[in-house]
Amino acid sequence: MVVATIALQTHDTHHTLAIAPPAAGWSLQGTIRVPGDKSISHRSLMLGAIAQGKTQIQGLLLGEDPRSTAHCFRAMGAQISDLNVDHVEVEGIGLGNLREPSDVLDAGNSGTTMRLMLGILASHPDRLFTVTGDASLRSRPMARVIQPLEQMGAQIWSRGGGLAPLAVRGAKLTPIHYHSPIASAQVKSCILLAGLMAEGMTTVTEPALSRDHSERMLRAFGATVQVDAETCSASVMGPATLTGQQVVVPGDISSAAFWLVAGAIVPGSDILIENVGVNPTRTGILDALKQMNADITLEHPRTATGEPVADIRVRHSRLKACTLEGDLIPRLIDEIPVLAVAAAFAEGTTIIRDAAELRVKESDRLAVMATQLGKMGAAITELPDGLEITGGHALTGAEVDSFTDHRIAMSLAIAALMAQGTTTIHRAEAAAISYPDFTPTLQRVCG
Ligand code: S3P
Repeated sequence: MVVATIALQTHDTHHTLAIAPPAAGWSLQGTIRVPGDKSISHRSLMLGAIAQGKTQIQGLLLGEDPRSTAHCFRAMGAQISDLNVDHVEVEGIGLGNLREPSDVLDAGNSGTTMRLMLGILASHPDRLFTVTGDASLRSRPMARVIQPLEQMGAQIWSRGGGLAPLAVRGAKLTPIHYHSPIASAQVKSCILLAGLMAEGMTTVTEPALSRDHSERMLRAFGATVQVDAETCSASVMGPATLTGQQVVVPGDISSAAFWLVAGAIVPGSDILIENVGVNPTRTGILDALKQMNADITLEHPRTATGEPVADIRVRHSRLKACTLEGDLIPRLIDEIPVLAVAAAFAEGTTIIRDAAELRVKESDRLAVMATQLGKMGAAITELPDGLEITGGHALTGAEVDSFTDHRIAMSLAIAALMAQGTTTIHRAEAAAISYPDFTPTLQRVCG
């Protein structure tokens, strides 16, 4: 059997991933279970911590990001058991009861931890919380949540006009109707979580619909939530009472995305990805790949804790270019790096626009994908708010860097499967943020 060579080397804290596919005669085969959805994992830990009673979580993502969330809420008095996939137990302490922590809360690399947690902290009158993160998170904009929380009555101090470290003094909040200039589930969720303790209806209207996991889970925990898909608005009625629940976390479609693209571009591939969350606010990747002529089918559709779930089969096909823009972008925001890889193997020129948000993710994903995929020989140009990729240029193995961004590390690994020679990905350990088993899984499906 012809197999790809995939070797991981450790240098202190940094890992280098070397990938050398055979010239021909191999493909990706098998069944994969991707780790738990990152967005749902964060929310289950947070809502569990502020609910009354016990929350039991099955399928939690054991990546670095949810670990940051668990760490922060433990520091404020929530009892969260050791994190494991089969069973996590959270003993909630009830809304408004978080303890003032004796040290700075560290959100690590996780924007979701910092932004959602700020909404919760803001509703704790007269308690002071300080929040920081790693170098990437300390460079990401927080004004987008500071402004609405200040409008609701919280006091927030930041570095350099909206950067962490931040200090938050909570208050008795007033409900607002916030018109967010960006479609962001982190902004929406932050405000809805703050609204749990404000007396009356707190509403967020966004320019396009972002992922709705908070709305679904808040409802499951007993909050009164209203959603108007037509106007892209979500509201919560305060003061709310949350009650601990059983949460089953489905597999993360953002992690499945790497295998969807790998299966679509490597000739002869046939992969089944089991138990993937297919919430319609997240399935833009499926729509985009289908538009590109990918062979994707959904099997055994079902529901888990109010979230749609299915198994997804992908088989290799000849891809063609497409245009990704507008309301579709929030539905595939985290999958754009790996879609850029798919575009490099599609016939014609793919245009991605309306995606300037990618510049303020864990790295500037537009700049990083353009330079790193460019190093491998892809015809990729950075646009102010997107990328232009002309497919059909053969890729060659190169030395590339994740820029400590998990989705970049994994997207480059998928590109490497179709490059001639060896691709060496530096700082590949970033994958553990959302997909700790990415490399062993890659080794298995390539073997
Ligand atoms: C997330 C929302 C998205 C996404 C991030 C997770 C969430 O960010 O990119 O990975 O869990 O709410 P924005 O809200 O900034 O769009």
